[in-house]
Amino acid sequence: MTVRIFVPGDSGALAVGADEVAAAIAAEAGKQGLAITLVRNGSRGLYWLEPLIEVETPAGRVAFGPVAPADVPGLVAGLASAPADPFPQGEGPARNGGGGAGPSPEEPHPSPSSARIHSPLEGRDRAAAPFTAHPLYLGLTEDIPFLKRQTRFTFARCGVVDPLSLEDYRAAGGLKGLAAALALTPEAIVDHVTQSGLRGRGGAGFPTGIKWKTVLAADGPRKFVVTNADEGDSGTFADRMLMEGDPFVLIEGMIIAGFAVGASHGYIYSRSEYPHANDVMAKALAIAESAGLLGDDILGSGRAFTVELRIGAGAYVCGEETALLESIEGRRGQVRAKPPLPAIKGLFGAPTVINNLLTLASVPFILAEGAAAYAAVGFGRSRGTMAAQLAGNVRHGGLFETGFGVSLGELVEDIGGGTATGRPIKAAQVGGPLGAYFPPALFDTPFDYEAFAARDGLIGHGGIVVFDDTVEMARQARFAMEFCAIESCGKCTPCRIGSTRGVEVVDLIIAGRDVEANATLLADLCETMKFGSLCALGGFTPYPVMSALTHFPQDFGIFPPGGRMEAAE
Ligand SMILES: Cc1cc2nc3c(=O)[nH]c(=O)nc-3n(C[C@H](O)[C@H](O)[C@H](O)COP(=O)(O)O)c2cc1C
Ligand code: SF4
Repeated sequence: MTVRIFVPGDSGALAVGADEVAAAIAAEAGKQGLAITLVRNGSRGLYWLEPLIEVETPAGRVAFGPVAPADVPGLVAGLASAPADPFPQGEGPARNGGGGAGPSPEEPHPSPSSARIHSPLEGRDRAAAPFTAHPLYLGLTEDIPFLKRQTRFTFARCGVVDPLSLEDYRAAGGLKGLAAALALTPEAIVDHVTQSGLRGRGGAGFPTGIKWKTVLAADGPRKFVVTNADEGDSGTFADRMLMEGDPFVLIEGMIIAGFAVGASHGYIYSRSEYPHANDVMAKALAIAESAGLLGDDILGSGRAFTVELRIGAGAYVCGEETALLESIEGRRGQVRAKPPLPAIKGLFGAPTVINNLLTLASVPFILAEGAAAYAAVGFGRSRGTMAAQLAGNVRHGGLFETGFGVSLGELVEDIGGGTATGRPIKAAQVGGPLGAYFPPALFDTPFDYEAFAARDGLIGHGGIVVFDDTVEMARQARFAMEFCAIESCGKCTPCRIGSTRGVEVVDLIIAGRDVEANATLLADLCETMKFGSLCALGGFTPYPVMSALTHFPQDFGIFPPGGRMEAAE
């Protein structure tokens, strides 16, 4: 019997030793005479448990983690001594918190320490003991609460399939959306996307159907589809994780977009900081070409679509759509004035769909399962699922795909488990470096574009960076201004000059000089940047700055009357 073992090749897992673990498993299996097939899958997105190793059993995949090379001999010995079907009663493996080892039901997210707590085994669990008694045993992967509570539409295959196996992709429901699109007119595809309520996942939440409709209606001998995979927001990794774990879903989404708007060529714009993702993506594109999924005659349909991978040097502003187009055209990434919109006059002057990677990767599900299935999930005008990325000082960092409407507090405190340091949460920055800092008092805000905007925040690309009570918010405000000064493309004055002046003013406040007057000056400067900047880099930097000042005035040395005394008491 050959045992199928999954070890993620995702860069998050590689960073904590997945390659070493894979090598140790291969060597140890050889030594112990265990026949194995080693699959390098993507990550399931439970990063605090990486490297998360999975073993296929007739009852489903069971997980162990986080596995270190030193754990491997014991793990392989356990697998070698396990019966062919370790869970013969048909009931499946002991669930998390079941009779065998594993975290208790009260522990919603297994942690390494809880995973080591186990009770004596009895009955059928004894047969499964080589699995369940292992201190790193986590039960059925799908039953791990962090995973089980998710609604995975876009990331359904991520961490499940071999990312470079088109057969795996197809077997797991891939290409169903493309098959459906092939039977539809461009207008009907656009209509499906419109009905689904899908909004751009790059930050602005613009309705994707409207964007596609504009490009479809635009005249031009050639049109383009561009994937924005620049992913520069702090604390975000969803685009990377999907490129490394399920690259074909992006390719499928791009082809469907091409059919919808009448484009036959596309670009994926990624960044040099993503070498593993770029490698997987390049390989997936080559596989898709040789399988006839890309090229002049897609799957025998007579329709053409090709894709090129472009890798930027990693300037934050190159994620802004017009700067990105400049970069693809071979120029310095500098923002273009709008209008014209890229949908009318984009890449090389041609009508262009430019969408975030997650937007395009959501499309195959919509075509395969229907717009109504997608729109059935969500909140208000925010339909479908979002990929929340929990990062920073958080106990259970990872990717959590769920319907819009989940509250920030639920994500940070319940799902994320609070801070990694165990200290109280002071703030969560949502939406990248241009997103607002939300104090716990605002944690009831539901994830919804409008609800966040109403509280002077933004969802952005779904990044959530958690801070404990040791963070100094005036320094975070300074950091926001400094980030803007460094990353500014320099085209407009409020951003180029304003951000530098902003750093100086915050420095004066931190030094305690004319605090009230300088705080007023800072607020004025933020107003100018917000309304006078050409793009959202200068226009949204005021969000982190003003949220820090508004919600944490004491960190700027501003106290309500009598407040300083109260604080001292
Ligand atoms: C400074 C700046 C950086 C941006 N970075 C990204 C990025 O990394 N990825 C992204 O998809 N959108 C980014 N955007 C938003 C894009 O300009 C654009 O709105 C998006 O690609 C449109 O796709 P969507 O409709 O699918 O969201 C950025 C915008 C600004 C102003
Ligand atoms: S706001 Fe900043 S990044 Fe945007 S165009 Fe102006 S100078 Fe460039």
